[in-house]
Amino acid sequence: KKVLVLCGGNSSERSVSLVSGKACADALRRLGYEVSVVDTDDMRDAVQQILSIAPDVVFNALHGRQGEDGCVQGFLNLVGLPYTHSGVMASAVAMDKVATKQLLAGVGVPSPGGITCTLSALREKELMARPYVVKPVCDGSSKGVVIVQSGEDLDALFGDADLAQEVLVEEFIAGHELTVGVMEGKAFAVTELKPESGWYDFEAKYTAGKTLHLLPASLPPVVYQAALRHAEQAHAVLGCRGISRSDFRYDPARENDENHGLYFLEINTQPGMTELSLAPEQAIYCGYTFDTFVDRLVQLAQV
Ligand code: DAL
Ligand code: MG
Repeated sequence: KKVLVLCGGNSSERSVSLVSGKACADALRRLGYEVSVVDTDDMRDAVQQILSIAPDVVFNALHGRQGEDGCVQGFLNLVGLPYTHSGVMASAVAMDKVATKQLLAGVGVPSPGGITCTLSALREKELMARPYVVKPVCDGSSKGVVIVQSGEDLDALFGDADLAQEVLVEEFIAGHELTVGVMEGKAFAVTELKPESGWYDFEAKYTAGKTLHLLPASLPPVVYQAALRHAEQAHAVLGCRGISRSDFRYDPARENDENHGLYFLEINTQPGMTELSLAPEQAIYCGYTFDTFVDRLVQLAQV
């Protein structure tokens, strides 16, 4: 079988995708597939290379805009090439944090209170008491995310940013950072991420030794079970395929809240596949190897 690994791309997560793509291509070669890699940052060029290679399956190792938001998926649907991970709708909704929160609120999965506005509107008037979090509506790997506690944080936020950009301004939930991978509808486990300092930002995510991964997370059973259930609900409501990974915050000081202090943040339809990434780590915890996990994703590929 000819598998084409699509990685790189032109999003802010290009560098992460190159690492995910290499790990997956190496696994696919070990598995005996005939592997080609397309890692361009020009999506027109990617389209041409995919058409000329004409693989049996596209392994989508892209992250972020155009690769994880339904664009590439739509193209592959049009040309009838089976691809791994989620289809158009799940990808498009999941890339939009606001749409995802609204959809999940409808099935009783609470997320932190939030408002969307442009950065310039936020500069006119702080719309929420500090601390709060400002996030691009559509991005990943914590790119562009600022936790606002002080005036200096605001200076950093506005710095050289595009003030017309739409952002999500979200209540900051103190406490613990959690993540749950879901494979074929079934949750793997809950991991808690403990950065050695600060929060789980881009550097803490992708620098070896900067963050402790507690797998399984040590949580009250009711919270652990709720995290598993909500990740499965998110996967199901969006109609994800193969793997997804949902991120949460848990604040024990809010245990009297309706959801015991557990808040859904977002779902990732193309979770990282790097050595420090969380979905493969949970897959291995649940009995896969990295290679059998990648192989299963290929088996689940569809148009
Ligand atoms: N957006 C990154 C790749 C992740 O969720 O793992
Ligand atoms: Mg994300």
